[in-house]
Amino acid sequence: MQLPKSRAALARIEPYIPGKPIAEVQEELGLTDVIKMASNENPLGPSPKAVLAMQETLGAAHIYPDGAARALRQAIATHWHVLPEQVIVGNGSDEVLLLLATTYLEPSDAIMYGTPTFSEYAYAARVLGAKEIAVPLKDETFDLDAMLAAITPNTKLVFICNPNNPTGTYVNADAAQRFLDGVPPGVLVVFDEAYVEYADAPDFPDVLGLLAQGYPVATVRTFSKIYGLAGLRVGYLIGPEAVVADLHRIKQPFNVNAPAQAAAIAALEDQEHVEKSRRMNQAGKAQLYAIFDELGLRCWPSQSNFIFVDVGRPSQPVYEAVLQQGIILRSGAAFNRPNALRVTIGQEHENQRLGTVLKQVLQNLH
Ligand SMILES: Cc1ncc(COP(=O)(O)O)c(C=O)c1O
Repeated sequence: MQLPKSRAALARIEPYIPGKPIAEVQEELGLTDVIKMASNENPLGPSPKAVLAMQETLGAAHIYPDGAARALRQAIATHWHVLPEQVIVGNGSDEVLLLLATTYLEPSDAIMYGTPTFSEYAYAARVLGAKEIAVPLKDETFDLDAMLAAITPNTKLVFICNPNNPTGTYVNADAAQRFLDGVPPGVLVVFDEAYVEYADAPDFPDVLGLLAQGYPVATVRTFSKIYGLAGLRVGYLIGPEAVVADLHRIKQPFNVNAPAQAAAIAALEDQEHVEKSRRMNQAGKAQLYAIFDELGLRCWPSQSNFIFVDVGRPSQPVYEAVLQQGIILRSGAAFNRPNALRVTIGQEHENQRLGTVLKQVLQNLH
């Protein structure tokens, strides 16, 4: 059978490696009580109001969703005090990132990001056959001064993952301002703020304020993290109206399904659930810091719902031994940090269980 040749650009695309699903681990290891601390999901789950809202749409499943997602975009705009024309929603923020690449990148163009970071920026550039400028992190934090110095005339998009996945570190308002003041015209600076609702540093950048001041910035956010709706796939971008108009030209007509739109609106209205999730995360973060400290493991202060921890030895065997005990983590190998683990902050009993298992595993491996 003679099939057409796929595009040359595909050779550079590596498949995304997600955290292992619970069902797969249960099946493989014959365990029943498996917990996932691997994909930075909300261990509290979604708001019950969001669940109800999506259920109410199901009887109308024969009707196409609102392709313009007017109600959801209005709800996001109201919540963040921006215009609906500054908002586009996507099938997860993953889709929004790909839309940005599809809208802006010719093969001769480049994107820039710090490394290691979330893999989807590189993926989006590669799909388009565009170039990448990957600037190493400094102290496991985006090095905006080095990034500024590395911008080339063909750089169109800069992705700043803030707080950064996988390290949990952040760039502060001063660093962001300095960067934006130095960026040449014709570059869009995209802050990926998937975890922004967890950030509590007083000097965390106010990207919406920078947007209001006229800087060429956009923020990409999601309902997958603190809103607990990762399975529904809803993310969004807030940016300059002209950017949003171009993204709308290229998006699929019905990219966010009706139950997802309804659930996202209800989730946004239930800020009590968000607050409860935030408080649980803060307590869990303190608990895990104490556990890592007791085990003598270095970790980086996190502005998110996960912690990057150095286990002081190759982390893959630690990851595997912890998995055997029914806890799924992310091993640092995927992030070019072979001694690190990324641990999603869980509920109190889950963090406790991880502490006990990690202690045993580290003792046995010595
Ligand atoms: C930094 C970052 N951006 C974006 C995403 C994608 O989220 P979504 O579920 O909205 O596609 C993730 C998911 O882990 C992430 O860590």
